[in-house]
Amino acid sequence: MPFLVPPESIDSESLILVLAFGAPSVLEAQCVFRERAKVLPQCDDIAVANLNVDRFSGYTELAGVHKVALPLPAVDSPDFTDAITFPDRNFNFSLSLYCTRGDPEVEYEELSEELLSTIRGTGLKKANLIRSRFGPEMYSERVLARSAIDFVAFPMGATYQWGVTVFIPVTEGFKERSTERPYITSGISLSSRLARLLVNIAGVSKGQVLLDPFCGSGTILGEALLKGVDCIGVDRNHGSVERTKKNLAWILSHEKRAGQHIPSYSVIAADATYLQKALGDKMVDAIVSEPILMPRLSSPPTLEKARRLIKHASGIYSDALYEMSAVLRRGGRMVLVTPSLRTIEGKDVALSFDDLSEVGLRPFQPPGYPSYEYPLKVAHQSTRWIRRAIYVLEKA
Ligand SMILES: C[S@@+](CC[C@H](N)C(=O)[O-])C[C@H]1O[C@@H](n2cnc3c(N)ncnc32)[C@H](O)[C@@H]1O
Repeated sequence: MPFLVPPESIDSESLILVLAFGAPSVLEAQCVFRERAKVLPQCDDIAVANLNVDRFSGYTELAGVHKVALPLPAVDSPDFTDAITFPDRNFNFSLSLYCTRGDPEVEYEELSEELLSTIRGTGLKKANLIRSRFGPEMYSERVLARSAIDFVAFPMGATYQWGVTVFIPVTEGFKERSTERPYITSGISLSSRLARLLVNIAGVSKGQVLLDPFCGSGTILGEALLKGVDCIGVDRNHGSVERTKKNLAWILSHEKRAGQHIPSYSVIAADATYLQKALGDKMVDAIVSEPILMPRLSSPPTLEKARRLIKHASGIYSDALYEMSAVLRRGGRMVLVTPSLRTIEGKDVALSFDDLSEVGLRPFQPPGYPSYEYPLKVAHQSTRWIRRAIYVLEKA
């Protein structure tokens, strides 16, 4: 596709990741890349992965990025245009500016003018700058639709780091599973894309077993199955169990590819507070779950109401925590989506876990990185006052 500059055409030791969900996207990249790259956040929307291996393609596994770009020299240096092979015929290019320091529109105008004159200055008269209609970012769908060479820029010290987009994840599959599977319960389900990010953070691979003890309609399990991970779903609602089974059967038949390992799954009607009994003596390698969604609120809650709602939610988590820990193998991760409320007074009220060590759990900290402070807020999601936040725990 014209917008893609072949990765091997630029000699690069790092990648720029444009984050779809903020801090959880950074953690996903750290968990997926492991020792193959060091992933460091630069600002809310950008992380840089410094690569330790050649010909790295691990970024194609990520669900939490909008784009992956290769770094370029400064736009005012002669090396900038040398680093790219421009097409001979008419072509579109765009600029996506992230983490602006000042007025985004002013910064965008200045940088796009600079980019335009740099490209035109090399004699490329056929270059056509397409402008973003929604602020300083050109959304990845539009980059694809316009076949544009997409330049990205973000502040770095006193100047800007530039890059060129080389990869945009294919999101059709996520959309299709979110909207076309037999049972869609949009009121209680998270998106397939976010579910895949959570499964990636859980660090499970083909042949291992993942449990969702509050499985709803099986969104998380579906994404794990597609990675070849065996799954167990539990829900106390018999209707949810039947819906999950039909959704998982649909996902597997829909995505069937010849010669691939077909993972197994079982879905059990049981209460998550009696998991050991429900699973027999079976242990699992990871748990990923969203046990509760907040009721729809048409306006931001007061501090008192937010505390009351979060206290109620906390009870559901803490009732099941001991049992979830008991069925998780040592070293296994538990990825829990929790609610976080922004009150009318502008305060954030999030769920917290006390005494994790009493149930044999500790916050998961990826080795070699500064410690995370949980919960991690999921950016660009939910309403302004109800947000998702993520805890990642590890069985000690
Ligand atoms: C927020 S929904 C999960 C939605 C799911 N992530 C999805 O995408 O479809 C929570 C589910 O937990 C189930 N549930 C609530 N309390 C439970 C309990 N104690 N044990 C098992 N399931 C429970 C509910 O029936 C509901 O289906």
